[in-house]
Amino acid sequence: MARHSQGTFEGMWADLADIGRASAGGYRRFVWSDADLTLREWFVQQANDRGMGVREDRAGNLWAWWGDPSAGNAVVTGSHLDSVPSGGAFDGPLGVVSGFLAVDRLLEAGRMPDRPIAVVAFSDEEGGRYGIACGGSRLLTGALAPDRALALRDDDSVTQAEALRAVGRDITFFGADPEVLGAIGTFVELHVEQGRGLVDLDAPIGVASAIRGHGRWRFDLVGRPDHAGTTRLADRDDPMLAQARLVLAAREAAARHGAVATVGKVRVEPNAVNAIPSRVQAWVDARADDDETVHAVVADIAAAVGLDPDEESWTARVDFVPVLRDRLVTALGGVPVLPTGAGHDAGILASVGVPSAMLFVRNPTGVSHAPDEFAEETDCLAGVDALTTVLRDLAWE
Ligand code: HGY
Ligand code: MN
Ligand code: MN
Repeated sequence: MARHSQGTFEGMWADLADIGRASAGGYRRFVWSDADLTLREWFVQQANDRGMGVREDRAGNLWAWWGDPSAGNAVVTGSHLDSVPSGGAFDGPLGVVSGFLAVDRLLEAGRMPDRPIAVVAFSDEEGGRYGIACGGSRLLTGALAPDRALALRDDDSVTQAEALRAVGRDITFFGADPEVLGAIGTFVELHVEQGRGLVDLDAPIGVASAIRGHGRWRFDLVGRPDHAGTTRLADRDDPMLAQARLVLAAREAAARHGAVATVGKVRVEPNAVNAIPSRVQAWVDARADDDETVHAVVADIAAAVGLDPDEESWTARVDFVPVLRDRLVTALGGVPVLPTGAGHDAGILASVGVPSAMLFVRNPTGVSHAPDEFAEETDCLAGVDALTTVLRDLAWE
């Protein structure tokens, strides 16, 4: 059972500290895992503590409501609770904890908002288990078909349908949830910055201007399995050589195009020291300021290995709506505005026309998707202050 403490950053952060710790350091909080279920319990308890109505939508996203969602035009904040393998503590949870704390401050003011307010924890934002970025918000908006989502297999070949059944979910209606999506008037996501922009600007809080285009492509490099010790070099068809070319091609193409790319995940079959692999699967993550450049990088990589990849996840660049972006900047008395190369649920909602915005909290090293990800408590509290100010500005006419 998840511990839960109410109303202080330190207490709520401590609640989460030991949930889903990874043996290799950091956190492993994959969707529908035990860690995820414990985090969901914590979320429900936090909502109950505040007298907020709790609902899990058809896509598995969790919602805590202050006011009646059917009134529509809700002001929604939140982020996600899942992580990449050996991920940091702040990427996602900071936005959910800050959302509840901002509600606390507004509740203390003792005035009902003119618009419903919700805190959301989007499901499977990292795609750590099933490979698609922002799985829960894509399902919610209809950007990800339920049949595809249910058929996705994790590294143990367990489908999401099987995982859902194993945790007692009815998958009959798994998928888009137009009623919930239609209730959102404005979404504001607070997130630890994944980069050094605010550090270099010496600012604790910033507002997002854009999310750069980014995607994930899988290359299936096939070889001929054989004995590592008895097969003559001339007789070998070793896919690991293509893998080596692919990794170097990704870096060279990114540098050539002013983009970024990496191969962060490789699956080798049979993955034996003394066997020439039958297949190497390699995933490329590529991102750039404009979408055409991302696709040019991937095309260069494909040409280098003579193989077209399978596009597993694609997120086009999103420029946040200036009127809402600037409203946040004004409400906060003037804070830096900066783009990000990290994907977020706010980008998925924005891409289907939901007025969305993001607040960034300074990350002293810029490190993310790693155990060393960090933010100073003073900056986290400044984030809660900023989010409270923004929600008050939006939810009280
Ligand atoms: O991959 C990303 O950019 C995000 O952190 N999910
Ligand atoms: Mn992330
Ligand atoms: Mn995130």
